[in-house]
Amino acid sequence: RCTRKLKIIDKADMTKKKSKKKIRKKQKSIKDGFEQDQEEQEKENPKMDAPAQKSEQSRVPDSIEPENQKLTAEKTAAIACYIKDPDYRLRCKAAIDILMAKLKMINAELSGQKKRTVISQTTSRIKSAESIYAKLLKKGLEPDFETARKNLKDLIGIRVVCPFEDELYQVAESLEMQKDIEIVRIKDYIKNPKKNGYKSLHLIVKVPIYSAEGEQKELVEIQLRTIAMDYWSVLEYELYYKKRDNAEIETELKKYAEEIANLDHRMLGLRNKIEKI
Ligand code: GTP
Ligand code: MG
Repeated sequence: RCTRKLKIIDKADMTKKKSKKKIRKKQKSIKDGFEQDQEEQEKENPKMDAPAQKSEQSRVPDSIEPENQKLTAEKTAAIACYIKDPDYRLRCKAAIDILMAKLKMINAELSGQKKRTVISQTTSRIKSAESIYAKLLKKGLEPDFETARKNLKDLIGIRVVCPFEDELYQVAESLEMQKDIEIVRIKDYIKNPKKNGYKSLHLIVKVPIYSAEGEQKELVEIQLRTIAMDYWSVLEYELYYKKRDNAEIETELKKYAEEIANLDHRMLGLRNKIEKI
């Protein structure tokens, strides 16, 4: 079933080749798959595909031994087949759209109250086959799509960037208050940063999707970061994430994370000072 679908998709892909080439060129620099939301993209280029139609870019570790490369390629292709399934993409896109609509509303409300923009950027991605394969292996699980659906909570991802740290918690709180959204897990890497200095607030939420088959819940990972946290994370991912083997670079990246966090807090202090004037 998947092979037949894959052929149909390939054909459709051919017709979209031109516009996809354009998108790839434009988004070459976004390496972890998170892309600007659809509305923003459409404003810039009305012919663009929805971001949820595109998947995270390849990040297969370079360290894979040649004899395993064929197996990796086969397993990844098998996962990719499911990732391209139109029904799966439709469900993912629906979950993204629902949360983006909620975030838009939250942004309008909070920005109205504060008289400045509270959410400066929202991006989304559907996890790529390469990423799924790598993550399942890392967790010691069978590298297939079914296992991924059962075990990975970040197959769908949304990233929210706000100017200041306190706003991240306000956005998270507003999401938590919504009855149709179930908060499955909160990982606060702001209060407890990762050893390498990574900071972000991660929420795993369940979103109900309604179709002819009835209600089905989709898990989505929402990453909330300040502009400063995002600046460090994006660069660290680009330079180092998934290729961790150099203590000197690790020390340097951590030092920069601390310097950036320090500046972030000073900016927050300055904002508070200005707001009192
Ligand atoms: P589990 O949650 O334990 O299943 O594993 P996980 O890999 O999902 O962990 P976590 O929730 O901590 O990380 C999820 C996502 O957060 C990753 O895919 C990245 O997008 C981001 N992330 C986590 N740690 C780092 C990091 O050290 N650097 C950067 N740049 N991003 C990170
Ligand atoms: Mg996670």
